Amino acid sequence: MNKKTLLLNPSQIDIAADIIKRGGLVAFPTETVYGLGADALNDDAVRSIFKAKKRPMDNPLIVHISSIEQLNLLAEKIPKKAKKLAERFWPGPLTMILKKKSIVPLSVTAGLDSVAIRMPKNDIALALIEKSGRPIAAPSANLSGRPSPTNHSHVIDDLSGRIDAIILGGSVDIGLESTVIDMTRSIPTILRPGKITPRMIQNQIGFVSLFKGTSSKPASPGMKYRHYSPKAKVILVKYSKHQKQKISELIADYQKGNKILVLSREKIPSDSAPNIKNVVIGSTIAEMSNAIFKEFREADKEGDDIIIVEGTKETGLGIALMNRLGKAASIIVK
Ligand code: TXA
Ligand code: MG
Repeated sequence: MNKKTLLLNPSQIDIAADIIKRGGLVAFPTETVYGLGADALNDDAVRSIFKAKKRPMDNPLIVHISSIEQLNLLAEKIPKKAKKLAERFWPGPLTMILKKKSIVPLSVTAGLDSVAIRMPKNDIALALIEKSGRPIAAPSANLSGRPSPTNHSHVIDDLSGRIDAIILGGSVDIGLESTVIDMTRSIPTILRPGKITPRMIQNQIGFVSLFKGTSSKPASPGMKYRHYSPKAKVILVKYSKHQKQKISELIADYQKGNKILVLSREKIPSDSAPNIKNVVIGSTIAEMSNAIFKEFREADKEGDDIIIVEGTKETGLGIALMNRLGKAASIIVK
């Protein structure tokens, strides 16, 4: 592929909307991560998303909307609980799986009879959907298998020459993908944790379950693929009293012959050696979540061999952060 990829300022949204109307591909910011968008009702356009990202065809896409009318255009038999969640959390980082109407092409849903829908909380994303007049199918705007893009520069690195345009929207707010909840099951089930936590959802609609998938029985089609992975071997050190001690031990164990990156909340004491770099990525879970994918990408550029990450408590947004870190990690130390 060697397309000319336009780099557009947010003020050039009309050009981006025209590209969507004509069946092209536009990467745009949302509050979570950048998305790679196409007209969700145009089968050819949707198929070209999979090609540009090298995404397996059996991994369905999220459709982004800007109004409740579009929800009713795409989904049927919408449960009361789903309406309640839409009212409370949209626009926002919550994706709901609902029964699809036949207007939604099977390429969007990878052949499933359900469709994933969300209304993003980002002015550029909402304007793009409104001005194009189309619901927009969009996975994260990374090459398949790479960390999700949290700045337009990441999209340029991955997809330049493969798509029609990239909207230069700067850094995103959250940095982790939306919560995905399956509302077609009798007990609503969270397939992917995100900023909207199980507790926040439960406060609105009562009991929900949190699906802990395995690779043979993934929570959703996308969950069976190895995700969010930098090239370096990621070692995740779980939150505990001895966490700092464990990290120091790991540094000592791997120091020889490896370029090591340590991502932590505070400086980790260790011998200062040229092959060990410690980046403090934020003192709160929100700051860490916002920085993690960017740091993974930078580690790739630096050619790091090992990334040691300080895990957080698994509450609130920490559930989502630890989910992504767990997927990226090849070793998890308790
Ligand atoms: O925050 C986000 O959700 C970002 C922004 C761009 O909106 N999008 C995103 O898309 O992360 P993607 O394609 O990287 O992840 C979508 C996830 C995948 O795990 C996919 O398998 C799942 O949603 N999914 C989509 N449709 C589904 C369906 N009908 N049933 C079950 N899972 C579905
Ligand atoms: Mg993705």
